[in-house]
Amino acid sequence: MALLVRLLGARRTIEIGVFTGYSALTVALALPEDGHLLACDINDEYTRIGRPYWEAAGVAHKIELQLAPARVTLDARLAAGNAGQYDFAFIDADKTGYDAYYERCLALLRPGGLIAFDNVLWGGSVARPAKDADTAALHALNAKLHLDQRIDMALVPIGDGLTLARKR
Ligand SMILES: C[S@@+](CC[C@H](N)C(=O)[O-])C[C@H]1O[C@@H](n2cnc3c(N)ncnc32)[C@H](O)[C@@H]1O
Repeated sequence: MALLVRLLGARRTIEIGVFTGYSALTVALALPEDGHLLACDINDEYTRIGRPYWEAAGVAHKIELQLAPARVTLDARLAAGNAGQYDFAFIDADKTGYDAYYERCLALLRPGGLIAFDNVLWGGSVARPAKDADTAALHALNAKLHLDQRIDMALVPIGDGLTLARKR
């Protein structure tokens, strides 16, 4: 992730799903001193664990944590006129929300910007008929992204599956 951020020369980034702050820390360390990460989560208990480590690493000033449903935070940024202003987004929250996060992040990204989606293989369950809402959502998103002419994409089979989508 840090390598991707550096390859892009990213300055303005988004994370959806912070948890205890590990991926946010990784991205923030790779950003330039004036870089910015809009970190979206709904859980204060989890994110509170990460904040001291952001401070200790000297990157807390780059991270803006917004504790609200990510759709609300992203819609507010779009309403504020921030479309096309971000370089990179990492989507790693509730799976049934991925498509909504994708559409909003695509609007917020500049052409050439990159979206990374975690868990797109979902333990391999996306290859079988979906028995739950999370698997169905990921299956539908994978099919949608494969044909989406607004992006260039690759599903990278590392970890639990990471889709990289570059905005055209
Ligand atoms: C898999 S964890 C994120 C892990 C983190 N990206 C990392 O790699 O260190 C998913 C997070 O998504 C958050 N989440 C769930 N629903 C959300 C929503 N509607 N809006 C924002 N965050 C949400 C959860 O609170 C949880 O902290």
